[in-house]
Amino acid sequence: MISVLVVDDDELLGKAICDGLVRRGMHADMVVSATTARARLERGGVDVVLLDVHLAGVDGIALCGELARRAPRLDILVMSGTGTVDRAVAAVRAGALDFVTKPFSIDTLAQRIRDCRRAQPPVLSDGTTLPELLGASPVMQQVRALMLRIASTSANVLINGESGTGKEIVARGLHRLSRRASGPFVAINCAALPEPLLESELFGYARGAFTDARADRAGLFSHADGGTLFLDEIGEMPRTLQPKLLRALEERSIRPIGATAEVAIDVRVLAATHRDLAADVEAGRFRADLYYRLNALRLTLPPLRDRKDDIAELARHFARSIAAHDDSPARELSADAIDRLRQLPWPGNVRELRNCIEHAVAMATGPRIEIGDLPPLPTMSHGDAAVTEWPTLEELERGYLDRVLTHVGGNRSAAARLLGIDRRTLMRKLAARRGEAVVDEAAPGE
Ligand SMILES: Nc1ncnc2c1ncn2[C@@H]1O[C@H](COP(=O)(O)OP(=O)(O)OP(=O)(O)O)[C@@H](O)[C@H]1O
Ligand SMILES: [Mg+2]
Repeated sequence: MISVLVVDDDELLGKAICDGLVRRGMHADMVVSATTARARLERGGVDVVLLDVHLAGVDGIALCGELARRAPRLDILVMSGTGTVDRAVAAVRAGALDFVTKPFSIDTLAQRIRDCRRAQPPVLSDGTTLPELLGASPVMQQVRALMLRIASTSANVLINGESGTGKEIVARGLHRLSRRASGPFVAINCAALPEPLLESELFGYARGAFTDARADRAGLFSHADGGTLFLDEIGEMPRTLQPKLLRALEERSIRPIGATAEVAIDVRVLAATHRDLAADVEAGRFRADLYYRLNALRLTLPPLRDRKDDIAELARHFARSIAAHDDSPARELSADAIDRLRQLPWPGNVRELRNCIEHAVAMATGPRIEIGDLPPLPTMSHGDAAVTEWPTLEELERGYLDRVLTHVGGNRSAAARLLGIDRRTLMRKLAARRGEAVVDEAAPGE
């Protein structure tokens, strides 16, 4: 039997929650302060703590961190009000497994609690737990460390990064390292399907829902039950489908098209985009509430040109694996060829590098892969600071940001005003180009 400790200074609500959970076959106790919670936890026997993040007189986020450290096997679920999702998100970063926003139904809550417990902690071998994600640069080490930290939570993760930076590898890695690893991993590209098809793919339909619906058909949410659903290109999710997706995430249930009943689902959703979703929210293209839900945790993959030290390692790896795959002789890359690769801007990132090496492996005839074996690629003229003959929009933007910042003497608020964007967007751009792969500490109210 699952044993739940409800920590809420609203005694009436706490009591109602306890009663509800007991009626659903759980064991539930409540305490109204942090001090009594600590004392109760000392005695042991608690599986799940349901913590009100707005507990009077204490910093609920710090308390969350403290409990997570003291009792690593404890599952902490945080409750927060709707207007304060940012605090709940901060609590997840501090060590909570997930959050629920008030008001919630006891059924939803009980389901969340069961989800927490059903999942077994992952078995992590020490050392190389993510061999598929190469890169020894500090920023990629950060990415891997972050992945290990967040893989076992059930919170949604938004994976951000330019095309070809490895978003899908990261999503699969998170699944493999998670408590759901033995469940299915289901991926869908939201940009690839027109809206009606996307809806029926995701949610399924009931027989008779439309002319061709001759039998019930389960959607991808159902196929991913017990596992992970990866929503690629989430930025292209049609606005009209966004409320339905939000509902699925919040209620953990879906209603297939034309069906009369809801179907409970147990799915962790990972989403990826190359877009600046916060900007899309500002522009009204993406629902803010859905963004907050998806963005509980964020992982940003830096472009390849910002981690040049990874280029040699990746290139050597691809040269070896492609040759092995094609049964062609293994050739090392010459030092000149590597130097050359390091100078290129790689707008298509790791995927482009891989394609380039594929070409080179096919072309090479000598003992090594030489510069001449590489396909023609747009160059940077002189080393790092150089620009390409045809700068990408992003390169142009960087140059322009620098000019504006210099003009205003580094004053970011003034720069943001001149650029016509808000200060947070500017800070994000600056952080992105420093190649920071950090959980975005900014409150999601941005
Ligand atoms: N760090 C890495 N180590 C090894 N291979 C990588 C790494 N990053 C990306 N790759 C390889 O690069 C290719 C592109 O990766 P992936 O499909 O994950 O990128 P993506 O960010 O999802 O791109 P897109 O936005 O275009 O869908 C894949 O072949 C992948 O195996
Ligand atoms: Mg992808």
